[in-house]
Amino acid sequence: MTTTTDALLTLTGIRKHYGGVYALQGVDFEVRPGEVHGLVGANGAGKSTLIKIVSGAEKADEGTASLNGEALGDTVKALRAGIATVYQDPQLFGELTVAENVFVGRELRRNYLVDWREQQRRATELLTSLGLSEKLAGQRVADLSVAEQQLVSVAKALAHEARILILDEPSAILTDREIETLFTAIRTLKDRGVGIIYVSHRLDELAQITDRVTVLRDGKVVASEPTKDLTVRQIAELMVGHAINGTTAEAGAPQGEPVLRVEDLNRRNRFTNVSLEVRPGEIVSLFGLVGSGTGSIARAIYGVEPADSGTVRTGQTAMLPGDRSRQGVFATKTVGFNISIASLKGLWLKRKQERRTAIEFIERMQIKTPGPNALIATLSGGNQQKVVLARQLVERPEVLVLEEPTQGVDVGAKEEIHGLVRDIVGQGTAVLLVSSDLPEVMSLAEKILVVRGGRITARFDRGAAQADVLAAAAGDE
Ligand SMILES: Nc1ncnc2c1ncn2[C@@H]1O[C@H](COP(=O)(O)OP(=O)(O)OP(=O)(O)O)[C@@H](O)[C@H]1O
Ligand SMILES: [Mg+2]
Repeated sequence: MTTTTDALLTLTGIRKHYGGVYALQGVDFEVRPGEVHGLVGANGAGKSTLIKIVSGAEKADEGTASLNGEALGDTVKALRAGIATVYQDPQLFGELTVAENVFVGRELRRNYLVDWREQQRRATELLTSLGLSEKLAGQRVADLSVAEQQLVSVAKALAHEARILILDEPSAILTDREIETLFTAIRTLKDRGVGIIYVSHRLDELAQITDRVTVLRDGKVVASEPTKDLTVRQIAELMVGHAINGTTAEAGAPQGEPVLRVEDLNRRNRFTNVSLEVRPGEIVSLFGLVGSGTGSIARAIYGVEPADSGTVRTGQTAMLPGDRSRQGVFATKTVGFNISIASLKGLWLKRKQERRTAIEFIERMQIKTPGPNALIATLSGGNQQKVVLARQLVERPEVLVLEEPTQGVDVGAKEEIHGLVRDIVGQGTAVLLVSSDLPEVMSLAEKILVVRGGRITARFDRGAAQADVLAAAAGDE
């Protein structure tokens, strides 16, 4: 890569290690004004680490970072220089209003007093420019959806005249319409000369929004090219370092009586008259766009948020929590413990076998870790997600409810995980797959139940056209 003088942000020779793990091994990276720069790589490739170094949250062991020629070092410097970061989990104050959040720490003042009205006015202006409702400014952040909160974080960056905006997997939880809103906001910033770093596992988005793509593999830059010179397949292959074969979906062989039976399930303001059945060896999918009610239905099925009426009959249901950081991992424990916790029933004699299982899953799911004894907190986000999933697959329950099983997981491991799911289904597990990832649903599910407005509005069998399923979910007749 040639370093041009017109770069806004320039990183040279960045190295970072954690103990024996080399997260970044001499990375050069630059962002120009008005450029949307995609940053991609497999789970554990070093994306978040690079971002933390830019935002000052982590210190590089070696190398330099500068904005417009001025050296960056810590968080304060980075913030002053105009680097704004939107994390996947929006970091806002739930009890404050949207307007207060937008200006928190940099309140607009008049005669030393916070000018609430001006804040409200400016916030409303910003939100509407992002295509959001003008009513939002006065609402409490805790009452918004996660997607809305994320867009509020973008509004906040806009308010602070960011010169570099970093988005770490912003689209993972957004619906198509919200992604459009986000892209519109990105284009607005681009026109103002802001440099944008966009991290995503949704490779098809890159062509839509980025100008340049940098691919990281094992802490090194393996490509940095104009987006138009790369195909999605080339990017995927650069990420994993080898050719990728398309997966062929095999039809399963469901047998016998249903082991999960849901009848007439209702919860006020959430979902209505939901009925479904899953047989051993079968994958049934609940597919809906974010906000359709699939998440609430899943939570009612595993009982964390009981329904008002209706019945759920099942074997031993296990769940994959949607929010991995809060419920998914035992944060202070090792990778091995986190994989085998379900089968650890006090029998220390089984330890050896469990270690073997843990190693097997680490290999098959391509979990990037030194081994089962490493602490889970040292893994990258996507790799932690794989561990949580491994735990459920190890268990091989009679019924498994999988909620967004590959969210945040890279393309290479995704196929492998789909293979593992097919394996346990082949051994007789009944899977209810709750996913907003349409290609995933199309490739895994035997039956697809489309949820819209809290109701199952359409049913499809394997082989249906993807466009028809999407149209049903979006409500286009
Ligand atoms: N605090 C830490 N202690 C030890 N190792 C760490 C720590 N943070 C990150 N690592 C390691 O550094 C490497 C890069 O991790 P990073 O979080 O940057 O990956 P990533 O590209 O963001 O992956 P993902 O797509 O899963 O979010 C990984 O091998 C990870 O295990
Ligand atoms: Mg990450």
